[in-house]
Amino acid sequence: MTRTDYELLDSQVHALLENEPDPLAAASNFVALLYNAMNNINWLGIYVLRDDELVLGPFQGKPACVHIALDEGVCGAAASTLETQRVADVQAFPGHIVCDPDSRSELVVPLVVHNRLVGVLDIDSPLTRRFSEADQSGVEKLCDSFCEMQEQRKYFI
Ligand code: SME
Repeated sequence: MTRTDYELLDSQVHALLENEPDPLAAASNFVALLYNAMNNINWLGIYVLRDDELVLGPFQGKPACVHIALDEGVCGAAASTLETQRVADVQAFPGHIVCDPDSRSELVVPLVVHNRLVGVLDIDSPLTRRFSEADQSGVEKLCDSFCEMQEQRKYFI
């Protein structure tokens, strides 16, 4: 499996988003950039925290479930614990929500802007054990860069 060059990807995130004032445009390009830079993934997108549920935001992949409660699924677990969820085999994760039946492993990173949870980044792979510790720390760093830049904008999405 080809490894992702997260350092290069982080510089591309900065180059692509730094001068874009619109938060929705920035979020849309963020997910498109990551989706095309990572191999063996079938879905990548943002669920936005709206009141007390997660709602589908910008994504790449097949149409997905729109509303996720905070006590549901891998995304809900990441949002309610504020901890990245790296799931090697989604079929072994109690309460995993099947959006795309091809998904076998998943990485979900909480997105925090101005010290507040604003959503999660969800990445699905058709391979079990797709995401390593290096993927987790690499994607967390990209999310930090993205969230830092969103802090400069008027709202999150
Ligand atoms: N599998 C996720 C739901 C979102 S989709 O994968 C796009 C979950 O269990 O939260």
